[in-house]
Amino acid sequence: MPPRASIPQPSYGDDVTTPRTEEPLQFPLPEREPAPAEGTRAAVQTKETEIGPTGRPMPFLPDPKPVATHGNARVISMCNQKGGVGKTTTTINLGASLAEYGRKVLLVDFDPQGSLSVGLGLNPHEMDLTVYNLLMDPETRLDEVVVPSGVPGMDLLPSNIDLSAAEVQLVHEVAREQTLQRVLAPAIAEYDVILIDCQPSLGLLTVNALTASHGVIVPLECEYFALRGVALLKTTIDKVKARLNPALEVDGVLGTMYDGRTLHGREVLERLVQAWGDKVFHTVIRRTVKFSDSTVAGEPITSYASGSTGAGAYRQLAKEVALRCLDA
Ligand SMILES: Nc1ncnc2c1ncn2[C@@H]1O[C@H](COP(=O)(O)OP(=O)(O)O)[C@@H](O)[C@H]1O
Ligand SMILES: [Mg+2]
Repeated sequence: MPPRASIPQPSYGDDVTTPRTEEPLQFPLPEREPAPAEGTRAAVQTKETEIGPTGRPMPFLPDPKPVATHGNARVISMCNQKGGVGKTTTTINLGASLAEYGRKVLLVDFDPQGSLSVGLGLNPHEMDLTVYNLLMDPETRLDEVVVPSGVPGMDLLPSNIDLSAAEVQLVHEVAREQTLQRVLAPAIAEYDVILIDCQPSLGLLTVNALTASHGVIVPLECEYFALRGVALLKTTIDKVKARLNPALEVDGVLGTMYDGRTLHGREVLERLVQAWGDKVFHTVIRRTVKFSDSTVAGEPITSYASGSTGAGAYRQLAKEVALRCLDA
């Protein structure tokens, strides 16, 4: 009998983002020291080096610098092929927070489900022109498709189910991966930030979004299973960077739906920091029903529940994003 070819074993390599179920996960969590008495020098120092939810010292985050003129937008995609991780919620609320800080923001709904558009109170059946027309019809101009979002300083390029046809039709186009980049070009001079809400897949629409972007933010639910597939996402980002868009950067990885009361949530964050290092935002978005409530209301949490923890978290994220990649 001929010798059998050896069956290759799956190699995990350096992919520390894929949890291995057979191994117990160990995370040495930072030990908390007893709080020193209020007003003492030690109390002041502890406050300065407060350990944040990601297990790292929380830096001071200044308010974003005011801008005198608009333009030279940074284009950032919210990307994760998993659904329900907070891409749309982050697009709406990061955008609204940046607008509160005086940035001119354009949101691009690039998911045929149109959740971003619905989340800002639009009716999917009553849209005149959408991103689909912009992509497929050379006669359609960007300013014909842009609508106000209801938040001062923030506009929206809406989508509905029509966009799913674009994915199929684009396959036959010349420079199909650069289509969104081409149609968004006139917006760069007008806005400070353009946020693209990607669909939950790594298909041609997402590749278009990554090609059109300077940066990517990866929202990740703080659950073990959420870490699966992140390696594949990273490969896609690397491929787009190598073949289509050398300037593409990961602007940050955002822990969402975090429950600070469970050890589990903290462990996932520790693992994220092990895998992505300083790319992980210090800001973490906690789980709260206020987000679904605000979607139903068709507005960002920053206006629906302005004083809520969720609104505060997205304002803090806006400061972190500004510090990292807008004001730098
Ligand atoms: N931090 C959070 N806490 C609780 N619910 C959230 C949070 N972020 C988002 N949600 C809710 O979870 C669902 C999925 O979020 P969404 O932003 O639409 O994810 P995605 O765009 O990645 O599919 C929505 O109903 C949303 O309201
Ligand atoms: Mg979505």
